[in-house]
Amino acid sequence: MKVAIPKERRAGETRVAASPDTARTLAGMGVEVAVEAGAGEASGMADAAFAEAGARVAPGPAATLSGADVVLKVRRPAGAGEDGIDEVALIPDGAVLIGLVDPLVDRGQFRAYAAKRLTVLAMELVPRIGRAQSMDALTSQANLAGYKAVLDACVHYGRVMPLMMTAAGTLAPAKVLVLGAGVAGLQAIATARRLGAVVRAFDVRPAVREQVESLGAAFVEIEGAGDAETAGGYAREMGGDYKRRQAAAIREALAKSDICIATAQVPGKPAPKLVTSEMARGMKPGSVIVDLAVEGGGNCELTRRDRAIRTGGVTVVGFANAPGRMAPDASALYARNLLNLVEPFIDRENGAFALDFEDEVVAGACAMREGEIVHPLLVESGED
Ligand code: NAI
Repeated sequence: MKVAIPKERRAGETRVAASPDTARTLAGMGVEVAVEAGAGEASGMADAAFAEAGARVAPGPAATLSGADVVLKVRRPAGAGEDGIDEVALIPDGAVLIGLVDPLVDRGQFRAYAAKRLTVLAMELVPRIGRAQSMDALTSQANLAGYKAVLDACVHYGRVMPLMMTAAGTLAPAKVLVLGAGVAGLQAIATARRLGAVVRAFDVRPAVREQVESLGAAFVEIEGAGDAETAGGYAREMGGDYKRRQAAAIREALAKSDICIATAQVPGKPAPKLVTSEMARGMKPGSVIVDLAVEGGGNCELTRRDRAIRTGGVTVVGFANAPGRMAPDASALYARNLLNLVEPFIDRENGAFALDFEDEVVAGACAMREGEIVHPLLVESGED
C-alpha cells in the first residue's frame, strides 16, 4: 500500500496531512509513504525529518501521487479550471482520498472524483461519538482556533485581561462574551478564564450550560431555544421569534463586554449573523470582536476576511484558518486524527489496506464509494 501526502496548494493553507511521527508509524507497518518535498515546511516539519522517519520525499505532486492507494490531504484537491495544477487528475483511479474536503458546501467536486471512481472520506463527517474522538479533526482544529481567538483578542485589546491591584490603582478584568459554546467556544472560555477575564457565553443549545458553567463562565439564557439541538449534537437554524429575543439579549450583553469571541456555526449553512453593525458599534470604545466563523460568512456583519478593521472605536478581527496560524500544532494533531482513522484497516503483516464500510466511523465519514455518492446528507440533497 502506498500513502501519498502532497503539499497543500490552497492560498493560506499552511498545514500538512502527515507529520514525521505519523509517517514513522505508517512506515513501521510496512506502508510506503511518499511526502511531497516542502509539504511540511510551513508547519516546521522539514523534508529531512520525514526522510529520517522512513518516508520517501518526492520532488513534486505527480511523483508523490503516482501509484498512491490512499491520498491524505488537509483541503480538497484542486480540480481542472481552478488556480494552479489539476491535482485531481494526478490522483490514481480508484484511490481513497481523505481530507477536510468541505463536502456539504463544495458539492461540485464530486463530479471529478466520480470519473476516477475515488472513495472519499470527509473528515467533517466523522461521527461525533466517543470511539471516534481521536479521529475527530473538527474538534482538534476547533480547539486550537478557540485558543488562538483569545490570543488575537489580547493583541488588539489595549487593556489587561485579569484584575490587577497595584499600588498605582486597580485595573478591572476584561469582560469577554463568547457566542457559540461548541468546541472552539469552550476552549475560548477556558483560555480567557486562565488569563483572568470575566466570561459570559451564549449558545442556542441549552445543553451546553453545564459545560460553560463548569469552566467558570456564566451562561446567557434566552427563552424558547427548545429543541435547538439536532440528533448529531449540532445546532439547527433558528426561527424568527427566537432570533428577535436572541438579538436583544446579545445586544445587551455586548454593550457590557470588552471582547466578543464569535464561534457560532451550523454545518453546511452560512454562519448565523448574530452581531449587526449597529450592535458592534454599540460596544465600548477599545472593544474587540474576533470572528472565528469568518469562513462561513462570519457572525458579525462588519467582519472582513483576513483583516482586522477598526470602526467606531471597535476592532473586528476576521482572520480565516485560525488552526493554520498555529500550523505545527494543528498539523501534528490533524495528522494524528488521520492516522487513527486509517490504522485499524492496515494489515500489519503486509501493509495491505482495506476499509471496512460496515465500520460506524468509516460509514459515517464516507461521502463517496468507488465513484458513487453514498452519504445520506449528500444523496438526499443531490450532488449540486
Ligand atoms: P459547530 O462548530 O458546528 O458550532 C459552534 C457552536 O455554535 C455550537 O455549539 C452551536 O450550537 C453554536 N450555534 C449555532 N448556531 C448558533 C446561534 N444562532 N446562536 C448561538 N450559537 C449557535 O459546533 P462544534 O464545536 O463542532 O460542536 C458540535 C457538537 O458536537 C457539540 O454538541 C459538541 O459537544 C459535539 N461534539 C461531540 C464530540 C464527541 O462526542 N466525540 C466531539 C466534539 C464535539
